[in-house]
This record gives sequence, C-alpha cells and structure tokens, in this order.
Amino acid sequence: MKIIRTTEDLQAYRKTLANSVGFVPTMGALHAGHCALIEAAKTRHQHVVVSIFVNPMQFNEAKDLECYPRMEAEDQRLLETLGVSALFLPPVTALYPEGDHYAVDELLLSQDRCGAARPGHFRGVLTVVLKLLNLVQADAAYFGEKDYQQFELIQGMALALFLKTRIESVPTVREADGLAMSSRNRRLTKTQRRLAAKLYPCLLDSESDDAAHAALGLAGFSVDYVTSAKGRRFGAVRVGAAPDEIRLIDNVRIKS
Ligand code: PAF
Repeated sequence: MKIIRTTEDLQAYRKTLANSVGFVPTMGALHAGHCALIEAAKTRHQHVVVSIFVNPMQFNEAKDLECYPRMEAEDQRLLETLGVSALFLPPVTALYPEGDHYAVDELLLSQDRCGAARPGHFRGVLTVVLKLLNLVQADAAYFGEKDYQQFELIQGMALALFLKTRIESVPTVREADGLAMSSRNRRLTKTQRRLAAKLYPCLLDSESDDAAHAALGLAGFSVDYVTSAKGRRFGAVRVGAAPDEIRLIDNVRIKS
C-alpha cells in the first residue's frame, strides 16, 4: 500500500492508474463500517484509494475535534490487510493552506436535522469532500448510510457541480446488539454503551416519530431530533454531559 502525504504526490500517483478507481474518504479510527465501504469498492474497481483526514472544518465543537479518536498506526495495519492500493494521509495545511477562504455551501437540506444541531458542519464536510474528490478523480466514492444526510448532500453536490465521480452508499454495519458502527463509539463508557444500544430499536420499533422521541427520552438520552423523510426515520441523541457528551445518529427504514 502506497502512503501519500501531499496533494502533488496524490495527483502524480493518480496519473499512473489506468484502470477503474474507487475512493473511500474517512476520518480514521477505522471499524467494520469502513471495511464494508472498502469491500464494496474492491468488488467494483481495480484500485481502491482511502483517505484519513480528521477535517477540522466540519467540527463545530472544539472539544469534539480534540477528543476524536486518532489511531493512525492501527488504521494503516488494517488497510494493508484489506488490499488497499493507496492511503492519503495529508496534514491539515495540505488541504487548507494558510489564507484559504473558499467553502462549499448547500442552502436547503444542510440547514435541517444534523445541520440545525451542528451549524457549519455540512459546509465543512462538503468543502473537504469536494477537495478530495477533485484530487482523487475516482470513478466512484463510497459513503455509509448511517450518515444518510451526509450521503444525500454529497450526492447532490456531485450532481449540482457536474463532478465525474459517482457517489455510492453502503448499508450501515451494526454491532451484534444493533448499535450502528461509529468511530465515536470508542469514547462511550460501559454504561453509555448499554444506553447507546437502545437508539436503534427505539427508532425501528416505534409507531411514530413522536413515540420514538418519547421512548428515547425515557431510555435516558437527550434527544436532538427524530424525524422521517423518504421512508426513513432519522434520529440524533446525546449521551453524557457537556463538554464530554457524545452525539450518536442513526436511521432506519420505516416498517410498512
Ligand atoms: O463520514 C466521514 O468520515 C467524514 O464526514 C468524511 C466524509 C470523511 C469527510 O470528512
């Protein structure tokens, strides 16, 4: 696996790849959800490029950025075993050089749900993803359905800005008790982890959004939102107390 740290080296490497390229952007602390994205890419492309970049622009709370798990050596070892062609590991200044003052804004969907709870979050996500997509020039890029609003916004951006990379989604990978895989799960205490497992069944088994909201509150979460759209129920909750609280999101297909 080739390790690449500069944008120039990434662009030069990309020129050497004649066949189909799949891209999996991540913020590291890799888990089975990331592995599923990489496996999906491997079935469809000769080369898979992965990036690990903890993007400061998408964190609206300094404490969340500071506490975000970082485990570069372990991540690298895992990616080697998965047969990834190249890993892009840029420093912050490679993607945000001093004086950079460009950003991508979506004006509708990004204001809702997680966008309402985390002002500026999706501006950060779209900006970094556009930079990465332009650098990697992949045939397709892969995103997990746990972050469904993120997937919809990135797919919308690719259409709106005529990007050549196809945006694909991969179903959420869950722990045995239903908790959606997330890098943030590593920060949960044992008690919080037991509570976190209730997010999925509360969303899945409730008769309505209001009932799910009430069930999550009763279980002990602080609820950001529960809402439904396009046949899915979305929920975001917080566990623990500020400034160490951990925000969890999930979504399920509504049972018909
Ligand atoms: O889902 C993530 O890990 C991040 O939001 C992404 C897409 C890598 C952009 O930083």
